[in-house]
Amino acid sequence: MDALLIDKHVKYIQSLGENTDDLMYHLTAHLRLNAIYWGLTALFIMGHPEALVKEDVIAFVMSCWDDDEGAFGAHPGHDAHVLPTLSSIQILVMYDEVERADKERLVSYLAARQNPSGSFSGDRWGETDTRFSYITLQALELLGRLDAIDKEKAVAHIRRCKNYDGGFGATEGAESHSGQVFVCTAALTILDRLDEIDQPNLAWWLAERQLPNGGLNGRPEKLEDVCYSFWVLSALSILHKLKWIDSDALIRFILSAQDPDGGGIADRPGDMVDVFHTVFGLCGLSLLGHPDVREINPIYCLPAEIAKKRGLHMNYQVLGKDEA
Ligand code: FPP
Ligand code: ZN
Repeated sequence: MDALLIDKHVKYIQSLGENTDDLMYHLTAHLRLNAIYWGLTALFIMGHPEALVKEDVIAFVMSCWDDDEGAFGAHPGHDAHVLPTLSSIQILVMYDEVERADKERLVSYLAARQNPSGSFSGDRWGETDTRFSYITLQALELLGRLDAIDKEKAVAHIRRCKNYDGGFGATEGAESHSGQVFVCTAALTILDRLDEIDQPNLAWWLAERQLPNGGLNGRPEKLEDVCYSFWVLSALSILHKLKWIDSDALIRFILSAQDPDGGGIADRPGDMVDVFHTVFGLCGLSLLGHPDVREINPIYCLPAEIAKKRGLHMNYQVLGKDEA
């Protein structure tokens, strides 16, 4: 398959909210707001932001507000957590409606997630992960309030999660993983501290994620998976090293994971599609310069024109686009 099936993917995303009686809908409730962010981002970069009804989406976001904690949960009635809070802010930013959120309460909730060591917890229960550093930093930058946390300590914690191979793990001493490499590279970009990265070493480690079938894996010895097209390429894009992978082979791999009947993209050819692999497959194609997908800003995983309008960080590479 060599065509990108835009119309089918748009219809697939539109169909996702239709079966609210469906068991899958309930099993994925803990990811609901994230799933809406993934779907909306996919629609924006496919050039069809109108395919979901803006007021319905915003009403759902607002119904996930946890007024006890002052942030968003993943679904109405769920406790607040930084991940659905970021997704909500991203959705409101895409719709240019961020003023609908209670910015002061959000900033207090997010800033309170930083621990004395500089790490961040995902919620008030305390588990820490470099994902939560990135999520909180991006959310605060979108709210224009990065000053609310201790940036030096945030950098120091990410530095302690760096490994001898140039990659990053979820916590101190944890092995390098492409997802964690993405969050740490993007977090250091937001903090203007890319000097902390061991650039050639990390770019080599990332380039070695490509397997003979063109797909990328998350760690040595693991299977290829379409979502790593984003986790790996976003970091290579920030390091301006996208040419270190075989882009034609990766494009073929992503396109071969499309469902030609119902639309959507799966983790690998022949598997069931889902919205997570759909958006990250499209984001991968965007960074590789596919002509049918609009530009994604990999630092935030937001449409480039929206990030640009808000004056966010823009130093990254897209194949086929002239580099400054
Ligand atoms: C691997 O997932 C992916 C990661 C660890 C990165 C996830 C990043 C976020 C949640 C931050 C928010 C992202 C955006 C785009 C704003 P996995 O646990 O499925 O890994 P596995 O392949 O090892 O199972
Ligand atoms: Zn995956």
